[in-house]
Amino acid sequence: MISNADIGLVGLGVMGRNMALNFADHGYVVAGYDTDSEKVDTFNKASEKNVGGFGSMKELAAALKKPRSLMMLVPAGKPVDAVIEEAVPYMDRGDLIIDAGNSHYTDTERRIDKVAEKGLHFMGMGVSGGEKGARYGPSMMPGGNEEAYERVKPLFEAAAAHVNGEPCVVYLGKRSAGHYVKMVHNGIEYAVMQLIAETYDLMKRLLGLDNDRVHEIFGQWNREELAAYLIEITSAIFSQPDEESSNRLIDVIADEAKQKGTGMWTCQDAMDLQVPVPTLDMAVAMRNLSALKKLREAGQKRFPASTRAFGGNREGFIQDLKYGLYACMILSYAQGMAVLSSASRTYKYNLRLQDVARIWRGGCIIRAAILDDISEAYTRQPDLDMLIFDDKLREVLDRHMPSVRKVVETGIGAGIPIPAFATSLAYFDGLRSAWLPANLIQAQRDYFGSHTYERIDRKGTFHTNWNEG
Ligand code: 6PG
Repeated sequence: MISNADIGLVGLGVMGRNMALNFADHGYVVAGYDTDSEKVDTFNKASEKNVGGFGSMKELAAALKKPRSLMMLVPAGKPVDAVIEEAVPYMDRGDLIIDAGNSHYTDTERRIDKVAEKGLHFMGMGVSGGEKGARYGPSMMPGGNEEAYERVKPLFEAAAAHVNGEPCVVYLGKRSAGHYVKMVHNGIEYAVMQLIAETYDLMKRLLGLDNDRVHEIFGQWNREELAAYLIEITSAIFSQPDEESSNRLIDVIADEAKQKGTGMWTCQDAMDLQVPVPTLDMAVAMRNLSALKKLREAGQKRFPASTRAFGGNREGFIQDLKYGLYACMILSYAQGMAVLSSASRTYKYNLRLQDVARIWRGGCIIRAAILDDISEAYTRQPDLDMLIFDDKLREVLDRHMPSVRKVVETGIGAGIPIPAFATSLAYFDGLRSAWLPANLIQAQRDYFGSHTYERIDRKGTFHTNWNEG
């Protein structure tokens, strides 16, 4: 049985097991614990000699090198509190508990304070990349006490994905910074997934392309500037046969998207911070609409769709889809980064956005070639207020926004819902409108509620006794 382990893992499901094997591959000794004895057995059967599973927290704690580092990979919510409750009695001052699940950052805040009463450190760390990422190199987003992080840094840097020799992990900031960054990662993930889904809808219902062609096009795009993990897996999905029928699997999957809520959390917090993230909001709304299958079926009967056939240049439109998707992806990252920049000020995380973009270049779900440019943009200007104002990205958008407009005009004309594209375009057009009709909103508020307004020619707040109708 192993002893003096470098790290303890609580939760030996697929993610926990894979993470443990990943650390072990890099020469670290890993002790594991799960309440499910079958999972402990499977863990002990792993060929690596430097991993060992235990059936109790007490044994796990005894097998760890001091000061202890204990990492949990359990579902967010009550299970995290339950593990903390169970672990704390076996921990000593200075020990570190790491929550590597998708916890809400406010829960992380609460837990940091709770374990601090016992002199323990608590680290909220986002881990992205799914099962394969955990096994062969995820993107890791740690936040919390920096000195405690230094102890696990070598393990994390070894286990993380690497891009150009750089590990996709870095200390992000105090307290819940890590979980906050992961939450926003997921918000962007929702937006990009919705944009890709709308692209597919236009390819399928408007252009009538078959799955092979969709597979080919996404495959080709993944070899160009649009290269991204989500584009890559989209291509692969369209070639996957169904084992139970002669169809492609994609055609037998129900059109109702599920969600665990992290995308929604991003939008909720962005609302609190008053940062507009309309593409992310729309992605959540469309998941919700997708889940209302019965309502949509009734809707289709009431308002039979009159999808118009495509009469334009097909290859030209496929190019517009590519560049339109590319531009809207950039706008989605820009919205996510705007949330991070505001949150960093409000919650005092002191985030370095170039680091965030850098560790998202590999291992995580939203990894994409464009993150090189995004990371360079923040390296050039760490305080960049709006990502797309960076000269290089501005040029990219200048070139490709006409494609977005084409996609939106075409989709709307054909009666195909493309809300993430349309919203991204409206966000862009709003951003470059030095004047917006909000003067009227101010006037209306003052008219019906004496809420006052400001003037453009004088300082102060004003109220008017408005003419009645
Ligand atoms: C990742 C993913 C991961 C998970 C999401 C799915 O970065 O590896 O984001 O965290 O797959 O939780 O989220 P939904 O269930 O909300 O779609």
